[in-house]
Amino acid sequence: MSRTVAVWIIVLSAIIVTSQCLKLSSIDVVYNKGVDAYSKERWTECIVQFEGSLHLYKVYRSILVNCRLKCKSENHKHPFTENIEDLKIFEFFLMMKDCLHQCQKQGFEDAHMFSNVSDTILSSMQQRKPYAYLHLCYYQMNALHKAASAAYTYLTANPEDERMKRNVEYYIEQPEVNIKEVNDLESEDYQTLYKLGKQAYGKNKWGETIANMEETLTDYLTWENFCRAECEHQSEQEWSPEFMISISNNILPVLVCRQECQNKLKPLYTSGVEFLADLLNYLQISYYRMDRLEDAAKGVASYLSLLPNDEDMLANMNIYKTLVDKKKFVERSDIVHYLKRDKYEKRLLNFFHKTDNNYYNANTL
Ligand SMILES: *[C@@H]1O[C@H](CO)[C@@H](O)[C@H](O)[C@H]1NC(C)=O
Repeated sequence: MSRTVAVWIIVLSAIIVTSQCLKLSSIDVVYNKGVDAYSKERWTECIVQFEGSLHLYKVYRSILVNCRLKCKSENHKHPFTENIEDLKIFEFFLMMKDCLHQCQKQGFEDAHMFSNVSDTILSSMQQRKPYAYLHLCYYQMNALHKAASAAYTYLTANPEDERMKRNVEYYIEQPEVNIKEVNDLESEDYQTLYKLGKQAYGKNKWGETIANMEETLTDYLTWENFCRAECEHQSEQEWSPEFMISISNNILPVLVCRQECQNKLKPLYTSGVEFLADLLNYLQISYYRMDRLEDAAKGVASYLSLLPNDEDMLANMNIYKTLVDKKKFVERSDIVHYLKRDKYEKRLLNFFHKTDNNYYNANTL
């Protein structure tokens, strides 16, 4: 290789490296460009930037959550096997920290984006603010369908916003807008699958009901795990000079946040347990109709593990017992795990609130 060629290769790779660095995207920058385009009435650019910010935010969330889930599920090689005092717990956290750092670094590098987002933009994204801008910019570009769905998507997360409520009503009244096509653009897959399952059930299509409800169940569990893993982002921390108290104070908001994931099921269901039980009920009926009695028995057993005093289901169980071997009434492992975790978490929260009250009462005495 001649020297000039070698020099050129070095120069070229330097250009490639710098251009890669320049290409790193930032949610803050893209979002602010959207706000700027909006204020200058550049509607097309407003759409491009806010749609871009939504995409980046999705990538950002999935990198963080996937790293948390991956690091927890990995079997870390423990250099020490003995458990001495609290060293096992410390070891777990130190290994998690190392795993998270590496995973996030790799994730953001692969996605060519900055890992840092300011708290203000983060909270705007959580409140779905880009949709409030998008609906106006779509409207200006005469894309009424998209404007309607963007407004509706914002309203779903901010149901008290009267102005947005009037906007949605206005869009729905327009002859170009078909109300059936106005969607929450952030709705979860399990919600769509559940709707399809109920439609199939209404038409006595048992096989289809089973397929949709089984998928709803798996998808809901995955979604809740994602939601729970998002709780490990803490913006404010309460420090106490007492180490263990600091740790506990930081655990509490995580537990509260994890429990709040189930609030997304409101107003139809008050808890994940109730929702899962409802899915299992659709499943046991459909399995019965398809003559798959062993699967039906599993559904009934799992349902009763969630709601043990449900009289209708207890009556069902007695009927099934005349048809199926008793040994077939096994609870599904995904449901067993869910229930155990939920109960444990609620118990910890109760414990915390109880002891916290005692502490405050003792302090005021
Ligand atoms: C993120 O980090 C980069 C590089 O360190 C910095 O230039 C940028 O201002 C930061 N962004 C935010 C929102 O903090």
